[in-house]
Parts: sequence; C-alpha cells; structure tokens
Amino acid sequence: MITAVTTAAVSQWRRKTLGKVVFVPTMGALHAGHAALIRRARRLAGKDGAVAVSIFVNPTQFGPNEDLSRYPRPLRADEALCRSEGVDLLFRPDIREMYASDFSVAVSEKSLSLRFEGAERPGHFDGVCTVVAMLFQIIRPDIAVFGEKDWQQLAVVRRMVRDLKFPIRIVGHPIVREEDGLALSSRNRFLPPDARMMAPRIFQALTAAAMEAEGGAKPASLERQLRRDLGRIPGATLSYASIVEETTLEPIGRFTSETKARALVAVKLGGVRLLDNLALPIAR
Ligand code: PAJ
Repeated sequence: MITAVTTAAVSQWRRKTLGKVVFVPTMGALHAGHAALIRRARRLAGKDGAVAVSIFVNPTQFGPNEDLSRYPRPLRADEALCRSEGVDLLFRPDIREMYASDFSVAVSEKSLSLRFEGAERPGHFDGVCTVVAMLFQIIRPDIAVFGEKDWQQLAVVRRMVRDLKFPIRIVGHPIVREEDGLALSSRNRFLPPDARMMAPRIFQALTAAAMEAEGGAKPASLERQLRRDLGRIPGATLSYASIVEETTLEPIGRFTSETKARALVAVKLGGVRLLDNLALPIAR
C-alpha cells in the first residue's frame, strides 16, 4: 500500500496505474461499515484494478457547534485496516493540502441538500460536495463507492456527478449493522451505555414500518407510526422521520407500483445524532 499525503504524490501514482481505479472516500475512524465498502471496491476493481481510500476529516462539512475537534482520528488502526483490506493507495492529506488559506470556490447542490440533514445542518452538503469534487479531481476514479447509511449524501453525490458530468460511476453499498440492528457509525462510540441500549429501537421502528408497508399501509400512516415509535424511545429526540422517493427525496403522497420508497430517520440519543434508513417494500 502506498500512503500519499500530497496531491502531487497521488498524481504520480495515478499516472502509473493502468487498470480501473475504485475510490472510497472516508473521514477515518474506520469500522466494519467502511471495510465493507473497501471490500466492495476491491471486487469492482478486479485483479487488474486498484483501490484508493481517502481519510480526511473535512472541516467545511461541520457546523460551528458540531464535533469537528472531537472527531476520532485513530490513524494507525485506520492504516492497518486499509492494509489488511488490500488498499493500493491511501490518501490522507492535511488541511493545507486541501484548502488554500483564501479558498473561495465551492460546489453547491441546491435542491436535495436543503432537506433533512441539510435543514438541520446548514451548509453541510456544500462542504460534502466541495470536498468530494476535489477528491474526485485528485484521484480521478472510474468508480466511487458510498454507503447507503448516509442515504441523502448518496443522493446528493449522484446528483452532483450527473449535473457536473463527472465521468464516474457511483455505487451505493448497503448499511452494515451491529447484531442488534444499530447501523455502524464512527459516532456510536460516544453513546452512553443507556443510550446504546435504546439505540436498536431505531432499526426496530424502521423494520416495523417496512412490514406495514408490505401489508398495504399508506405513507402518511407509516410516517405517523414511525414518529410515534421513535418518540417512545426513552431519552430520544426525533429530528425527522419521512417516507421519500429514493432518488428525488420528495415526500410520497401515495404508493404506486412504480414507487421506490425509503424511510429516512434521524434521532438524537444520548447527545449523539443517529441516522438510519430502510427501503420500503410496497404491496403490489
Ligand atoms: P464517513 O462518515 O467516514 O463515511 C464514509 C463512507 O462510509 C460513506 O459513504 C458512508 O455512507 C459509509 N458508511 C458509514 N457507515 C456505514 C455503515 N454502517 N454501512 C455502510 N456504509 C457506511 O461520509 C463521509 O465520511 C464524508 O461525508 C465523506 C463522503 C468522506 C466526505 O467528507
């Protein structure tokens, strides 16, 4: 594995790499969810291709009162995981490599970004789009893999790639969960024990909604049920729970045979913001 900290070093590596390049952007603190993305990238790259991973805790996607400074940075463990998963290039720039002190250009997705996470965290997706666009320029991948864990992020990145004509295929990878259903996240380590005990109820609420959807329940009643179930989790504050069309993130008034629906939820529990989502099988 080659570790690069400068864009120049990546360019040099890129010029020598002939096969397909598959890229997994991350902020580090890697867990089994990231590992699954890397393994997916390895399969997509095939034996002649290469896997590139970036680790960069991107300040522009954090709000002023968010957890940038306490975001975990276990660099050695992260490097070891990348090496054991067969990563070819690890790019871990420092902030000066990515942002000039007077940087003044950003990428802004103006529709999907305004809802859900974007409504709660103004400017968050501008930060994500800007850094992902930069990373795409530096790595120049053929394919990039993102987790479905951050469903809205995946939708926003797909929109950016479509609208700005990045010649990159975006692949979404399913959510990796703990055995009790909690979606893996770098932030789970901050859950106090009592909140950790309650956290699986988020996925339970989603699976209950999926069963109801299969049984023919309507979107409005599913949302009511989800909000009620999530609201009953001791210590939880509901941020949002919505049934949306999976690509446009538009609310769904009525299911039809063509509807591709997804339930998106965010809950604050024990001081930690937890996101989850699930596809809803629609009764045909
Ligand atoms: P980060 O939170 O480190 O996540 C990196 C990738 O791992 C994202 O695509 C995310 O959706 C995926 N991921 C995280 N937990 C997962 C899980 N339990 N199952 C499946 N995939 C999971 O997302 C970011 O970093 C940043 O916003 C980034 C795209 C790197 C831009 O800074």
